Amino acid sequence: MYINFWYPIARGEEITDDKPLRVELLGMPFVAFRDTAGNAHVLADTCVHRGGSLSAGGVKDGRAICPYHGWEYGGDGKCARVPSLGDQKPPARAKVDSYPVQERYGIVFAFLGDLPEEERPPLYEVPEYGDDGWKSQLYVFELACNYERSMENGLDPIHNEFVHPKQGAPMLSPEQMRKPPPVEELPWGSKFYMPFPTKKDSNTELTAVKTGKRVGAAGSWFQGPNQLVTWIDISAENAFHQYLFEAPVDDSNTRIFFLNMRSWLLEDEHDERIEKPTLEIVHEDIGILQRLRPIRTPTTNTREILLPSDAMVVRYREWLSDWDANGWRIDYKRLQAENGDIAYAIPSPGRRDSGNWVLDTIPLKPGGEEARKRRVSPKFSAAG
Ligand code: FES
Ligand SMILES: [Fe+2]
Repeated sequence: MYINFWYPIARGEEITDDKPLRVELLGMPFVAFRDTAGNAHVLADTCVHRGGSLSAGGVKDGRAICPYHGWEYGGDGKCARVPSLGDQKPPARAKVDSYPVQERYGIVFAFLGDLPEEERPPLYEVPEYGDDGWKSQLYVFELACNYERSMENGLDPIHNEFVHPKQGAPMLSPEQMRKPPPVEELPWGSKFYMPFPTKKDSNTELTAVKTGKRVGAAGSWFQGPNQLVTWIDISAENAFHQYLFEAPVDDSNTRIFFLNMRSWLLEDEHDERIEKPTLEIVHEDIGILQRLRPIRTPTTNTREILLPSDAMVVRYREWLSDWDANGWRIDYKRLQAENGDIAYAIPSPGRRDSGNWVLDTIPLKPGGEEARKRRVSPKFSAAG
């Protein structure tokens, strides 16, 4: 799990101006609420007085109120009022981390890290969102699996035929199965997108392609460690574009915000017909993911047998190594071991401008070249 990326916090409607929302992410607690202008805020959940949980308190006049002694925090994380001090100003150190927020696609996202704005990896732009030619449905799933495993599943074109036998399309030709997919590089990730033959006797309800004559194209890509895109372009008119924003709750639980967009059957009356097979597919994936061993991706690629068709998985792990080298990986084992004695927080950009923070910065794995080499570079295994 990494700091310095955008993470989905909650559906927009879950965050209100009269009740704080507790959200666990990256193994840490956060509080989300809205101010009087309706803007969403996400703060570290730990009150710096004596450790109260802000999300167990209230929201009043756009401030989060600690349930223990009533300290009031604004959306900027600064304590604006300490009731027991009367008219006196709160101590200068009375502040908690406040994270940059964006509300898009019906989701509130927070940037959990301390990078200044110009250096931040971007939140994924969904080009079709809000376009009249597209219909969107948003789902949220909780999975008892590590988010990296879930991301890798989405980047794996081979599993479809085995995990989703009813899906029909996209199917791969035998040659496509043997070869690595054509990998393209993106600014914060990698991509494949390729034509696929459609199955002749498809029994899927999802695809209008039952004749097997038309050829579509499909592919998946990632941006950062937790944003996954899959495009299934069955034809020029019929497409599904799927956007998964993954929130690692901790290192073995994941919450996925799944934006499913389609360019056909746009009327509401078709929602159910689309939803049924879509959810079936999701649950087929979940069934596999929750039983993978080890729970987290192995730290060296030699602990699994990777084939050329796993090229995107390998690329994903290489990108993770880059972010390891940046020193962005959370030292989760240390966090767990020390959690009882030390209240940590994910550092916010505010820590770059002012010092004197009460909560310690979450432990991070040391970066540098050593960290990059931690994952042994892959050698694809040949058929025996
Ligand atoms: S612990 Fe929050 S006000 Fe005392
Ligand atoms: Fe799948």
